[in-house]
Amino acid sequence: MLNFTFYAPTLFDFGKDTAGDVGALVKRFGGSRVLVVTGGGSVKKNGAFQAATASLDGAGIPWQELAGVQPNPRSGKVYEGIGLVRGEGLDFILAIGGGSAIDTAKAIGMGAGYSGDFWDFFTGKAPIVRTLPVGTVLTIAAAGSEGSDSCVITQEKGNLKWGCPKTDVIRPKFSILDPSYTCTLPPYQTASGAVDMIAHILERYFSNTPDVALTDRLAEALVKTVLDAAPKALADPDDYAARADLMWTGMLAHNNSVGVGREQDWASHQMEHELSAFYDCAHGAGLAVVMPAWMEYVIGHDPMRFAQFASRVFGCEMDFAHPEDTGRAGIARLRETFRSWGMPVSFAQIGAKAEDIPAMVAHRREKPGAFPFGGFVKIGPDDMEAILRIAAEG
Ligand code: NZQ
Ligand code: ZN
Repeated sequence: MLNFTFYAPTLFDFGKDTAGDVGALVKRFGGSRVLVVTGGGSVKKNGAFQAATASLDGAGIPWQELAGVQPNPRSGKVYEGIGLVRGEGLDFILAIGGGSAIDTAKAIGMGAGYSGDFWDFFTGKAPIVRTLPVGTVLTIAAAGSEGSDSCVITQEKGNLKWGCPKTDVIRPKFSILDPSYTCTLPPYQTASGAVDMIAHILERYFSNTPDVALTDRLAEALVKTVLDAAPKALADPDDYAARADLMWTGMLAHNNSVGVGREQDWASHQMEHELSAFYDCAHGAGLAVVMPAWMEYVIGHDPMRFAQFASRVFGCEMDFAHPEDTGRAGIARLRETFRSWGMPVSFAQIGAKAEDIPAMVAHRREKPGAFPFGGFVKIGPDDMEAILRIAAEG
């Protein structure tokens, strides 16, 4: 295990009716005038918005709304939010929704107190040293931004979907996690969220670091919980127990509890960001297409690790003489699981085209330090092209 520091100071308020605590929590973390960030309206249909803003009203905290954040959130809403915060003298940002609303809130928080362009934090031109406090009311178990040190925004100039450098500074101050709100999710979003959390776990699981038994076991438990809970939530959207398991797993999958002390990979995420930049697909759906392809491409690097995953998570019989066969059986089971949840597993199913692959590789080059990427296996341009070709077939 490698040395590590782990600082994850978000307060989690979990369970039914917890949105009523928003006002008190904003005050506790120093907020007095709030920017409320929302998406396309789902949070008004399921009551999350009404509960949270009633709590702000009850606490005597004025607020203004920035509505209309799109999935795969764009820079335009960030600039708009920064303008509102400055113009109205707001000092706290509350996201109500999923990763897109939360990441927009985080980016506004970074940019509001900075004289330059907030995108400077994404290009590395400026370090992230402070931010306005952010709170969240989560309504989809998926991206894990409610507890994470990351933020992903698409800069409209150049259509660049990039994450900012990871930093504890941007972790939310608090996150309200009421699983009831996730009962209104369409099946496709429930499944995309489940895939995303599995990907967050596996990006950490496939590591070259030895002696990480505890985090291996924790990661396997999280994946198994998703495999158990996701079909239940898909069969019965009101299954509170399954929704609760998914919501807490999604947080644990990405606040780095299972990533400490080990090298991490993140190659599948890097490639998926090109897919969602090109085709505006749901992030989890893009991962369902690209991650099994990445696994097939890199399995030869450490067949035993893939065999361990296959046997411990899917119960595949371990063939010690041919661990790669066991590992491949696990990859097939994972892809089949995604398919059974209604997720795409090939380019065609997300409207992607194999002939765009060279353009995606070229687009990736615009990112500072674009190649190689990936901590488990270093991925160069030719590797990326080969993996995307496997993903195209599914
Ligand atoms: O826009 P509204 O109307 O709110 O609808 C949303 C949206 O269409 C809908 N939705 C959310 N909660 C709902 C609901 N519909 C019905 N009932 C509910 N309770 O779901 C759709 C997707 O919402 P979004 O916020 O985009 O989902 P998600 O949480 O999956 O976030 C995806 C974004 O997060 C980024 C992704 O790349 C993508 O841009 N990520 C952020 C990370 C982070 N900051 O740590 C890590 C991830 O790896 C990921 O890259
Ligand atoms: Zn993700």
